[in-house]
Amino acid sequence: MGKQDENPKHPSSSVALIIGVTGMAGLSLAEALKNNPTISGGPWKVYGTARRPPPSWFPSSHVDHYITFDALDSTDTTQKLSSISQEVTHLFWVMFQRLKSEEINISNNSTMFKNVMSVVVDSNKGRSRLRHVTLLMGTKHYMGPVFDPSLVGQLIGHDPPFKEDSLRLPFPNFYYAVEDIAASYSPAVTYSVHRSSIIIGASSRSLNNSLLTLAVYATICRHQGLPFRYLGNKYTWEHFCDMSDSRVLESNNNGQATTDRPRTKHLNGTKRRCFYMEELVETVVRNL
Ligand SMILES: NC(=O)c1ccc[n+]([C@@H]2O[C@H](COP(=O)([O-])OP(=O)(O)OC[C@H]3O[C@@H](n4cnc5c(N)ncnc54)[C@H](OP(=O)(O)O)[C@@H]3O)[C@@H](O)[C@H]2O)c1
Repeated sequence: MGKQDENPKHPSSSVALIIGVTGMAGLSLAEALKNNPTISGGPWKVYGTARRPPPSWFPSSHVDHYITFDALDSTDTTQKLSSISQEVTHLFWVMFQRLKSEEINISNNSTMFKNVMSVVVDSNKGRSRLRHVTLLMGTKHYMGPVFDPSLVGQLIGHDPPFKEDSLRLPFPNFYYAVEDIAASYSPAVTYSVHRSSIIIGASSRSLNNSLLTLAVYATICRHQGLPFRYLGNKYTWEHFCDMSDSRVLESNNNGQATTDRPRTKHLNGTKRRCFYMEELVETVVRNL
């Protein structure tokens, strides 16, 4: 513990609580906060959380404390976070659960976010130091819940390029639900929403690691002598995609959270280069 932490009158000025620190985005964010001397708002004290204990590859220098809890379980969330809840100044929500329908996604993701906000803000009854919440969301905000099998053929999304202020689609969407919960704490707690498309990064604990998935599949094809068949659909093969490196993305997300006067904002959080899937597949295969 640093000197500031030992004196309750002078707690660390910037205290981050990263929910989902072992995911692609969480890992890069923790690295940026702890190890990038040019990052704004520092020095940072970082609490990194995940449901499971850290994997062997997780660098302990990325966090001051690693906490495990199940955000779906309100008792566990309260037990694990209440002792630090009055310290936290910035909450970074860089996790999600995707299940078999969007209704379940809404229920689970809302419950997890509410459980954490309840400990960090509500239970502290006016003594919370939380200033800003950063929500990493995605472009399904504009496309709708494309993975819900019951909505196949029904979704009509916005045409790209996506605009932050476009109207919400008339379909259930867990991004809308989480955003609305954050809005209910504003203006006392400001929030920013960052909408990325594909993210690439180093974690093997991410639900969606598109590049890693492609690389593993290509390796298996090569090992077995099988042809590489693109597993996506015709649309994604024939249209432009964009992708963000989680390291670049997290520098940007952090910048929005730690200005002197963080404001409520909605941003297409993409540091992108546009490409066709064919180009990406060729690059992956060439580098195996
Ligand atoms: N991946 C992409 O390509 C992509 C693209 C666009 C937008 N996004 C958005 O970016 C955000 C972050 O994505 P990501 O891919 O970085 O996330 P992710 O890696 O899948 O997040 C996983 C993290 O969340 C933790 N977690 C999951 N369930 C938990 C629970 N019940 N309690 C506590 N921790 C739990 C995991 O811990 P355990 O492993 O221990 O469970 C892990 O640390 C999401 O909102 C996502 O929609 C992602």
